[in-house]
Amino acid sequence: MARQASAEQYEDKFPRSREMFERAEGMVPRGVAHDAWQVSPFPLFMTRARGSHIWDVDGNEFIDYFGGHGGKVLGHAHPVVVQAAKEQLEKGVQFGTCCDLMLDWAGIIQKLIPSAERVEFTNSGTEAVMLGVRLARAYTGRKKIIRFQFHFAGAYDAVMVGYKKPFQVSVSGGVLPSAVEDTIVLPMNEEAVLEEALRNRDVAAVMVEAAGASSGVVGIKPSFYQTMRELTEKYGTLLLFDEIVTGFRYSPGGVQAAVGVTPDLTTLGKGISGVMPGAGAIVGKKNVMEMFLFKDEDWNRYQRVSHFGTFNANPLCAASGIAYLNVIATGQPTQDANRNARKLRDGMQGKLDEREIPGCIYDSNFSVVHVYLGKCDLQGQCARVVCLNAGKERPSDVGEALYRNFALHGVKSAARGYDLYVSAVHSGEDLKRTMKAFGNCLDTMIEEKTLR
Ligand SMILES: Cc1ncc(COP(=O)(O)O)c(C=O)c1O
Repeated sequence: MARQASAEQYEDKFPRSREMFERAEGMVPRGVAHDAWQVSPFPLFMTRARGSHIWDVDGNEFIDYFGGHGGKVLGHAHPVVVQAAKEQLEKGVQFGTCCDLMLDWAGIIQKLIPSAERVEFTNSGTEAVMLGVRLARAYTGRKKIIRFQFHFAGAYDAVMVGYKKPFQVSVSGGVLPSAVEDTIVLPMNEEAVLEEALRNRDVAAVMVEAAGASSGVVGIKPSFYQTMRELTEKYGTLLLFDEIVTGFRYSPGGVQAAVGVTPDLTTLGKGISGVMPGAGAIVGKKNVMEMFLFKDEDWNRYQRVSHFGTFNANPLCAASGIAYLNVIATGQPTQDANRNARKLRDGMQGKLDEREIPGCIYDSNFSVVHVYLGKCDLQGQCARVVCLNAGKERPSDVGEALYRNFALHGVKSAARGYDLYVSAVHSGEDLKRTMKAFGNCLDTMIEEKTLR
C-alpha cells in the first residue's frame, strides 16, 4: 500500500539512525534524550551542523529548521561564536567564582531586554522559570501563578500543567498534586476571565509565553499585552514573560521591545549564550530582583531568595553569548530571519492553495513558521500572521508523517513537522527547496491518505 511506501523509504534511507536508535534504547530510556525528539519509528541521529545545514550518521545533508530549539537565529556554528568559544576553552570554563566576562554579558542583556534592570544567570531555561516562580512568590508573599492554555515553560514541576489537555492535569507522572494545585490555567486573550482570576489578590505572577503558545501556535491578540500589564498592576501581581525562544529572535529585545509592554520579570535561555549549552537567566525589575540581595541575618535566613548553580554565568557561555548577542544587537539577523520566514510562509501556503488543501501557514509575526492542516472558522478573516484559533487540532501522527516526508526530501524539522524555526542564514535556495519539499510531502500524504 502507498502508505507503507514512504515509511519503508524512511527505514531504507536512514539505516544507521535506525541501528543507533535500537542500541540507544538499551542505554538511554526511550532512545532519545528529550521527550520532544521522539518520533516513530525512530528519529534521525546527527553528527554535525553548520549554517542552515545538518548532516546525519548516514551522510545525508538536510536543511535544518530546529537547530537549538529555536535559539539559533544565526544558524549553526556561527564563526564569531565558534572563535569566542575556542579562545575561552583555552582559558578555562569554570572558575568557581565570578569571571570578568560576566559584566559584559549582563551588560548587553540589560541593553537589549527592556525589563532587564538586573540579570541572574542560570544553567537552563527550565531553571530560569523555576527561579522566576520562586522569586514572584517570595516578592509578593502569594502562592498562586497563572498560566495560559497550551503554553510551554520547560520541565519545572509547578508548570507541568497547562501545556496539554486536560489542562489542570500534570503532563508528567511523579509531580505531586500539591506542586501544581496553585497553578491556574486560563484560556488566552480573555480579559474578563483573567480579571476574575486576579480579583482575590492572591496571584503572585501571570506567566506568558511571550509570542503565544509554543512560539505562537496559538497567538496573543496584540491588545492583550497591554491588558495583561494593566490588570497585573491593578491587582499587585507580577507579569512574567517567558522569552526563552523569543528573547533574541522576535526582535533583539524580544517581544517586550516589539510590543512596547515591559513585564516585571523575563525568563531567557538558549539564545543568551548563542546556544552554547548551559545557560539561561531570570531578569527583571530592580526592586523584585533585590530579593536575591544579602542583607541582615534574619532576612538572609528567612526571606531572601537563594540560588545556587555550579555553572551559573560560566566563562564559556559568557564568551559565546557576548559574541552572539553583539551580532544580534545590530538588528540585522532578526530582520533577515523574519523576512526569510515570511517568504517560506507564503511559498508553503502556495503549495496548500495549489492543491486546494484546507489549511494555513502562518508565522506569528516572527521567524517561526507554523503549519495547520485543516479547516478554520477564521479563514479569510486574518492575515496569516497571528493565529487566534485555540480550537484547532494538529494530530501527532500527521505531524510525524510530515517529519518523515520532509526528511526524505532533505528537510529536518522538529519531530512533528508542523513548526519550522527559520534563521538569518537560510538561503534563498534553502527556502525554495523547502517549499518544493513541502509540496512533495503534501502529495505523498494525500496519496497515502495521511491527510484527513
Ligand atoms: C518557552 C520555553 N520555556 C522554557 C523552556 C525550557 O528551556 P530549557 O530547555 O533550556 O530548560 C523552553 C525550551 O524549549 C521553552 O521553549
